[in-house]
Amino acid sequence: MDKRIALVTGASRGIGRAVATALAASGCHVLINYRCRQPDAEATLALVQRAGGSGELCPFDVADGTACEQSVAGLLQTHQRIDVLVNNAGIRSDSLLVFMKAEQWQQVLATNLSSFFNVTQPIVKQMALQRQGRIVTIASTAGQTGVEGQTNYAAAKAGVIGASKALAREVAKRGVTVNVLAPGFIETDMTAGLSRKELLAQIPAGRFGKPEDVAAAAVFLCSEAAGYITGAVLNINGGVYT
Ligand code: NAI
Repeated sequence: MDKRIALVTGASRGIGRAVATALAASGCHVLINYRCRQPDAEATLALVQRAGGSGELCPFDVADGTACEQSVAGLLQTHQRIDVLVNNAGIRSDSLLVFMKAEQWQQVLATNLSSFFNVTQPIVKQMALQRQGRIVTIASTAGQTGVEGQTNYAAAKAGVIGASKALAREVAKRGVTVNVLAPGFIETDMTAGLSRKELLAQIPAGRFGKPEDVAAAAVFLCSEAAGYITGAVLNINGGVYT
């Protein structure tokens, strides 16, 4: 049987890299999206291959609607189908709202929320035609509880939860599932500058999560076995209260 085709956005490092590697190990051909750090994306491809899988690089900016439309069209022309989409690319740009620049608000919303539309819309059309597909989007505890200094990020992450729940209902009869992962504090570049001691005190499990903790859940939600799970939000946060 042909390999399933999986697109992972923001797969040049962190959680996206772990998801790409784990999906490859589970038998997918992985389309490794990134915006600008090609050497990092190549390192992800090497890990995918080391896991016994296959993949290819596909650079585009998930915040740019036209670029997404063109890139997804090109990928569909080449592969005819996309079976799995993991919307992972994200940024944060923290500031108390009173000091926040309009640009910070717009960039975070464009990259973390509008990207959901930009990438998912052309792909879900194809999945509906295929009558089969798995969409997983990475939200955050911040979108569930709100975090001070992150009104922009929390709004975007809460937004993808709502969008996923709505889309899940729209495409359930077509065999397409749409789910959300809500990680807590995961050890990546995104959390590298945060105060570890203070944050650890908030995590019942007593440790930060690893990208692989998120990847394992993504692989499950993208599997055939998870076909009756849709519209769900799965916390991966070591027990942090949401
Ligand atoms: P990271 O900063 O290590 O990696 C982010 C990835 O997104 C990179 O590959 C980057 O190139 C890509 N990216 C950023 N803007 C992009 C754009 N416009 N187009 C294409 N790719 C772009 O971050 P990390 O921690 O791996 O985060 C991955 C996802 O998980 C993000 O959506 C983040 O918000 C979310 N998350 C992370 C948590 C953490 O504790 N690290 C906690 C909760 C959610």
